[in-house]
Formats: sequence, C-alpha cells, structure tokens
Amino acid sequence: MKITWLGHSAFLIEGSKKVLIDPFITGNDKAPVKPDDVDCDIIAVTHGHGDHLGDAIFISKRKNVPIVAIYELAEYINSKGATAIGMNFSGTYEHEGVKLTMVPALHSSGITEAEFTHSGGLPAGFIIEMDGKTVYHAGDTGLFGDMKIIGELYTPDVALLPVGGLFTMDTRLATIAAKWLKPKVVIPMHYNTWPPIEADPEEMRDDLEREGIDLVILEPGQSYEL
Ligand code: NI
Ligand code: MN
Repeated sequence: MKITWLGHSAFLIEGSKKVLIDPFITGNDKAPVKPDDVDCDIIAVTHGHGDHLGDAIFISKRKNVPIVAIYELAEYINSKGATAIGMNFSGTYEHEGVKLTMVPALHSSGITEAEFTHSGGLPAGFIIEMDGKTVYHAGDTGLFGDMKIIGELYTPDVALLPVGGLFTMDTRLATIAAKWLKPKVVIPMHYNTWPPIEADPEEMRDDLEREGIDLVILEPGQSYEL
C-alpha cells in the first residue's frame, strides 16, 4: 500500500484500488497535483468544510467515481450532480474489496456556499481497509476518548492525524491520540497550509518513539509505503 500526501488533509491511498480522501487541491498552493490529473476509484470526504470537500465533486464527475460521505453531506453532493453514497457512524461501505468505515470526529461540518451555510451533517473520520492493511484518517477533530475504542476495534497500521491546532488537535494532543490509537505509524496532516495552523510535528517524535510508534513526516507529494 502506498500513501501519498497531497497537502492539508488530502491523501491518495493506492493498493489494489485507489482511494482519494478530502481532495482540497484548488486553493491550496502546496498541493502537488491538479484536479485534472488525480486518478482514483473512490473518494471519501470527512466533512463539509471547503478545505475537505475541496475538488471532490469535480473529480467525482470527471472520473465517474462515487463519493462516500455522511448522509446529509452526500445529499448535498448529489444535489450538485455528482454521485455520493450516504452512510453514517459505524457503517461500512465496501467498494470492490476496499472497506470504508465511518467513525466519529469532534468538529463541525457546515457547507458554506455564497451567503449560505448548509448543514453538512456531522463530521467524520474513516477507517480504510485494503489488501490486509488498515489506515485511520481522523478528518478534522479534537481529541476525544473514543479514540481508544477506535484503536481497539480497528487496530490501524497507520493513523493520519491533524496536528495544526486552532481547528483541530495540536501536536501535544495528537501525541495523546496516537498513544490511545496505538498505530504502527503516525503521519501528521492539517498543518502549515496557512499561518494559523503552523506546527512542527517533529515535536511528537520522542514521545511516539517511546511508545514504539514511528512518526513519518511527509512533504506534499511524498509517499509512504507499507
Ligand atoms: Ni473542518
Ligand atoms: Mn479543515
């Protein structure tokens, strides 16, 4: 399995299938790809904020691939002419051997469009299971105690955790999340896109190593193979 960071919270996870998560590309100067160039078989969107829904609708239409999202966000996406599959917490959607399970996130999810903010349902994270490997994409989230249960239930190999603070956990709280989740590897996300979420995830390394967790810091466009 190959995990490529496309900047912010956007990842392309490639194994027997290609899973694209939170493809915020247009408007992110650090994104290493263009919405016209991304290849995927399915798209998962964690919540309705623009830096996560991003180019999902455009790419879904261009590639004719489905978007998986919480029910209300899926309804919104469908109203824009893309194909979305609505689901909800603890539910699993299986797509050609890839399993996407929705787990909670502690955040908000409004969809802002011109002067209106639509309800995007509740924010989520995803457990992605493919080729015998498990990845947890936490979405945007604060620290919450049920991360311990997510760790016990799904035993993720890799946890993609937001560390930028202000809207999500910072490096200190993401370190606690990692201890609860007990993945083999943590890849930080949702930092340094803009000044308010500047962070140095290197601060997490010593604490994680003591727990036997590898910290893998990627640059946008870089990949981690497991
Ligand atoms: Ni958000
Ligand atoms: Mn965000």
